[in-house]
Order: sequence, then structure tokens, then C-alpha cells
Amino acid sequence: MPTTLITGGSSGIGLALSRALAARGHRLLWVALEAAELEAARADLQVAFPQLEVHTYACDLSAAGAAQEVHLWTRDLGFPVDLLINNAGFGSSGFIDETDPEHELAMLRLHVQTLYSLTRYFLRDMLIRGAGRIINLASISAYAPTPGLATYAASKAFVMQFSLAIDYELRRRQSPVRVLTVCPTPVRTGFARRASMEDSPLFNSWMRVSPETVARDTLRALDRGRSVVIPHRGLQLLHRFVSRLPQRWLIWFAAREMGF
Ligand SMILES: NC(=O)c1ccc[n+]([C@@H]2O[C@H](COP(=O)([O-])OP(=O)(O)OC[C@H]3O[C@@H](n4cnc5c(N)ncnc54)[C@H](OP(=O)(O)O)[C@@H]3O)[C@@H](O)[C@H]2O)c1
Repeated sequence: MPTTLITGGSSGIGLALSRALAARGHRLLWVALEAAELEAARADLQVAFPQLEVHTYACDLSAAGAAQEVHLWTRDLGFPVDLLINNAGFGSSGFIDETDPEHELAMLRLHVQTLYSLTRYFLRDMLIRGAGRIINLASISAYAPTPGLATYAASKAFVMQFSLAIDYELRRRQSPVRVLTVCPTPVRTGFARRASMEDSPLFNSWMRVSPETVARDTLRALDRGRSVVIPHRGLQLLHRFVSRLPQRWLIWFAAREMGF
């Protein structure tokens, strides 16, 4: 039975991915912040998939040493991780001097430091075993500086560039291990509420997709050995055109979508 470790697996995109992987017969290892939410989501999912094995670990992934803690937890469980999905994340919106610096620094630790360390720990195990896949959740905002989401977009640019470069290195070495970068447009999850962006035009725009679409297109891209995916075919085609625009137009477009 393949084992998937997914951070933030108990809600939003992580839960949709978990459902799709449960249908493929995966064992799930979930790490998220809220123990009660982990348990409630596990009980729900096991109603739909009675044979499903889910192990949970409540932990603040923005804390120093969290990645090592999670790595040790999986070692103690004794399941080699076949698929790692670095999905946990949150947003921080507003003019930079009006955002909470502690909140933004926690976000940077989660999106950059913990993702970096988890990727390194599990990539090393996968390289030794000669098998394994990693999926890193970036965002469409990784492609352009985004006024109103400056720190978030910059952290997702790190996720995208780091993941694409590693995937290239792995392909050059002809390694069976691969890294897929996922860049969703706005998705209907609890993310907008947590980022105080429920009223933002971005989350009410035509670019919004469902978590199920993200999960479906992500697993399709994984099966096809892609390096990067923008979920929803129409949006992927549109992005091919938009990405050719000069950067100052991209910033203008991003600012307009943010209502800035
Ligand atoms: N929704 C969007 O519009 C959108 C668009 C592009 C990219 N993304 C990216 O997609 C990923 C998933 O987002 P989502 O929309 O599914 O959001 P979500 O529904 O809010 O889920 C986020 C998950 O991350 C976990 N998490 C957050 N902070 C954590 C921490 N410090 N330690 C441990 N777990 C933590 C949450 O755990 P708890 O529930 O236990 O707190 C939750 O399970 C994120 O990386 C996000 O940046 C989202």
C-alpha cells in the first residue's frame, strides 16, 4: 500500500487530494495544526473509505524543528513515504506596513524553511530507496509580484523556483524521484477567510476553481510526470499567453485582481 505524507491534509486542497489518494488506495499520514480538526476530518473520510488507514500528527509546522519532528514521527510509524505533499500554508494580505510581522514571519517559516527541510529529509530517503515523488503547493501568485500579497507571493515564488530547479536536477540524473509544482489560481477553501480576503475581488473572480479540480489536475500531472501544473485547462492555456507580458503589466494585472 503506497504511503502519502500530506501537510494540511485535513482541510481544503489537502483534503481533496487526500480523498483522491484514498480512492487510489493510499495510506495517509496527515500533519496539521488543529488536533480536533484532524480527528474530525479523519472520521469523515473513513465513512467514505472504511478501509482507509490515516495517521495524524498535530504540530505547528511554522515552529523551528518541526520538519525534523515530522520526519522522526514517520520513522517511528515505520512507513517509507512514497509521496510527500507539502501543502500546508496560509495567506497574509494588506499593505505591507499594515500586516502583522509575526504572522508574516511564521508564514515564511512554514512556506520556505519547513518546506525546504521536509523536502530535503524525504528526498534523501527517496533517493536512497530509488523511488518516491514530491508535490509542492506554490500558487499562481508565484509568477508575479503581487501588491497586497507581497510576502505570500514572494514565498510561493521560492516554492516554485526551488521545486522546479530540484526537479530539473533529478531529471538530469535520470532519477526516478520527481518533484511536481502546483500553482493554483484562487480556490474555494478556508484560505480566503484565514487570510482576511473573503471580500477580495480575487476570491470572487472567474479564475476561482474548486479544490476537487486542483486535486484531479494535480494527480493527472503527477501521473504524466509533469514538472509544473496550473489546475484547470482553460486557465493553464490563458497563463501561457499572460506569462509573455512584460513584468510591469503582470504587476498591474495582479494588483487589479487584488483590488489594489
Ligand atoms: N485557496 C487558495 O486560493 C490557494 C491558491 C493557491 C495556492 N494555495 C495554497 O494551497 C495550500 C493549501 O491551501 P488551502 O486553500 O487548502 O487552505 P486551507 O483550507 O486553509 O488549509 C490549509 C491547511 O494548512 C494547515 N496549516 C496552516 N498553517 C499551519 C501550521 N502552522 N502548521 C501546520 N499546519 C498548518 C491547516 O491546518 P489547520 O486546519 O489544522 O489549521 C490546513 O489543514 C496552501 O499552501 C496555499 O498557500 C491556496
